[in-house]
Amino acid sequence: MPFERMEVNKKQRKDPGEKTISIHHGESFSKETGCIMPPIFATSTFKHGNINNFDYTRSGNPNFLILERILKALEKADFCTSFNSGISAVTAIASSLKQGDKVLCERNLYGCTTRLFEKVFKKFGINVFYTDFTNPEYKSTISKIKPDLIWLESPTNPLLKILDLNEICSVAQEKEITIVVDNTFSTSLIQKPLSLGATISLISTTKFINGHSDALGGAVLTNDLEWHEKMVFAQKSLGLNPSPFDSWLITRGLKTLPLRIKEQSKNAELLAQQLTSCPLISELIYPFNTDHPQYMLAKSQMNMGGSIITIRLKLNKEKTFEFCKRLNYFSLAESLGGVESLICHPATMTHASVDPGTKKELGINDSLIRLSVGCEDIEDLSSDLFMAFEDI
Ligand SMILES: Cc1ncc(COP(=O)(O)O)c(C=O)c1O
Repeated sequence: MPFERMEVNKKQRKDPGEKTISIHHGESFSKETGCIMPPIFATSTFKHGNINNFDYTRSGNPNFLILERILKALEKADFCTSFNSGISAVTAIASSLKQGDKVLCERNLYGCTTRLFEKVFKKFGINVFYTDFTNPEYKSTISKIKPDLIWLESPTNPLLKILDLNEICSVAQEKEITIVVDNTFSTSLIQKPLSLGATISLISTTKFINGHSDALGGAVLTNDLEWHEKMVFAQKSLGLNPSPFDSWLITRGLKTLPLRIKEQSKNAELLAQQLTSCPLISELIYPFNTDHPQYMLAKSQMNMGGSIITIRLKLNKEKTFEFCKRLNYFSLAESLGGVESLICHPATMTHASVDPGTKKELGINDSLIRLSVGCEDIEDLSSDLFMAFEDI
């Protein structure tokens, strides 16, 4: 009898697992009704003197708090602040800097993060520098520039470079430099930047966390009280707060994150292996493919390879778009991380705002596409891609 052989742990586990954390968000401010799902607290203001000290929704709302608690528990962070988009989370951090501060960024960042630094924060006297953090030379660049803050992504968007977060964070910690890791492509289920030494872990909850392409959001996680206070201040004073409804949607989506991300990573890993044989592909980048330049690091730093595959086609711009439009299950659209597969043309979409020289230097050209692999049946995704390659 299988029951007799099963070992039963009769004690409540001290730390619940990630699937349990994602589903059980704890107290939902609704003890009276016993509702399983929290209500949407559609209120702009709160009666003065309530026990939770809610004041005005720009500076807090039960729906934000429920979402923040789950994100915090998943990352094992002390603090979390939610925002109305990933870019608002970037804004919250950058706006906490002061005139003259220096930011050293990984050269390949999400295009709109670079745009925000270049077109907005430079105007207010923030000095922005870029370097390739996969090149060991980055250490001397840090010593030369002496940045106040280092901004990383790993895997990077869209080239999927893997940065050695542990090593970079220890170099930065020695010099008391704040380290931000944009963890949007991984989520804390694949890697936990704070455990690897980062000061701040940022995430666009629009992507994998919500997973259903129906809401925008962002969050900043930290163990540093001073940075947390800055985030709370930015949320209310810059009006970067999310809406209760979006927070509720993201909380609902988050319940299935562990299941989705596992399935999506599995699909992506299989597709990445199958596509390597395709004669129309000149380069395929996937962190868990053995030919990835940082394969060993990816394997040690990440629990799964993630659901993003970047591909360079042996096709010109016109044919590349024709390929994208032939697909049935991969919609040509911005964004990533949802249950539905998407395809994106970074040069004209996510990285359209990056200057042509930088794009050329990075290799973000007209033949580059980025797949966000969803939860569909792998056989359907695979035949969709291989059929689109036929006779092109
Ligand atoms: C790595 C990364 N960071 C931040 C963002 C911004 O997130 P949002 O679109 O929620 O503002 C994105 C969006 O694609 C992203 O890919």
